[in-house]
Amino acid sequence: MGAMTTKTLTDSALVRAARGQDVPHTPVWFMRQAGRSLPEYRELRAGIGMLDTIRRPDLVAEITLQPVRRHGVDAGILFSDIVVPLAAAGVDVDIVAGTGPVVAEPIRAAQDVARLRRLEPVDVSYVDEAVRLTVAELGDTPLIGFAGAPFTLASYLVEGGPSRNHAKTKALMYGDPETWHALCARLAENALTFLRVQIDAGVSAVQLFDSWVGALSEADYRRFVLPHSTAVLSALADAGVPRIHFGVHSGELLGAMGEAGADVVGVDWRTPLDVATGRIGPDKAVQGNLDPCVLLAPWEVIEVEVRRVLDQGRAAPGHIFNLGHGVLPEIDPAVLTRVTELVHEHSVGFRG
Ligand code: CP3
Repeated sequence: MGAMTTKTLTDSALVRAARGQDVPHTPVWFMRQAGRSLPEYRELRAGIGMLDTIRRPDLVAEITLQPVRRHGVDAGILFSDIVVPLAAAGVDVDIVAGTGPVVAEPIRAAQDVARLRRLEPVDVSYVDEAVRLTVAELGDTPLIGFAGAPFTLASYLVEGGPSRNHAKTKALMYGDPETWHALCARLAENALTFLRVQIDAGVSAVQLFDSWVGALSEADYRRFVLPHSTAVLSALADAGVPRIHFGVHSGELLGAMGEAGADVVGVDWRTPLDVATGRIGPDKAVQGNLDPCVLLAPWEVIEVEVRRVLDQGRAAPGHIFNLGHGVLPEIDPAVLTRVTELVHEHSVGFRG
């Protein structure tokens, strides 16, 4: 049965598009498709903390499946969070509703880095279990695993929480490059372990989220971040699953982010996909990039924008339709279902 399942999933539209192969229609999923836009999610989460939910494989499988059932999207994304491997490696971190990750004792000097120990697979055995259960329940629909990239995780650790300018993060990066690189090297090592656990448990693709990396110039990205993101992605070159790499505000970094070892580069809504493909090069697929706020507009507007994104995506060897960033809690889930249908209809015959 294992062999049959594997064949089905490598033949899925998501994996085929990531590899630039022919697909019957453009695959679509939405970042943050599981979450507060869904009443069934809000009901299930009532009274249970975010990190406690993530440690319950039965709840993870159910939450991951909710948007797949409702919208008919082409992939599930594991219900988890980028801070999970931090907490599992001894960092006192919590996810505060409406704010995001909050770190009790920020990392700002060499001796602080020592507090972030090496992650062992056993530290995240509940993730292994959750992936196995979710994959079994998803059947023919592929599951995407993910991790936070070194820069974005370092930003939360150094700032102590969400940040607009990432000033403390940059102060460490410029002022104490040795400590910066030691921190990022450990984060890269742990992200790799976290992704390998998910791959061994059966995910069909992985996404490395570098959400806040757009705060950097390309030169600083190449010097302070690229070596560490490359350490994660290049180590997975032979893992047998496509690697997606995504950041927000990353228009200036798209080429470099592709060089880090991605098969698919995620693009936010600021860069049209045909322009993005010019920067990334002709050998990588793209993912994106409808502005999530467009989903708050009347359907006539949404329809035009979805078609535009699909048409511009034809410039790349493969396209996975998504938003340019996550679903906002106030977006009507019925609209996401309708967008999924439109993507499938409009893209028939695009590629084989
Ligand atoms: O459907 C999915 O996308 C899967 C689940 C997922 C979550 N977090 C669940 C979540 C994924 C892929 C993430 C990754 C993540 N977490 C990122 C990278 C993606 C991105 O959005 O750029 C980042 C930066 C985080 C850190 C984080 N965790 C933030 C900024 C928040 C939002 C805080 C808030 O309340 O507005 C979280 C919490 C979080 N992670 C929620 C969800 C569904 C909301 C909390 C809740 O429902 O109680």
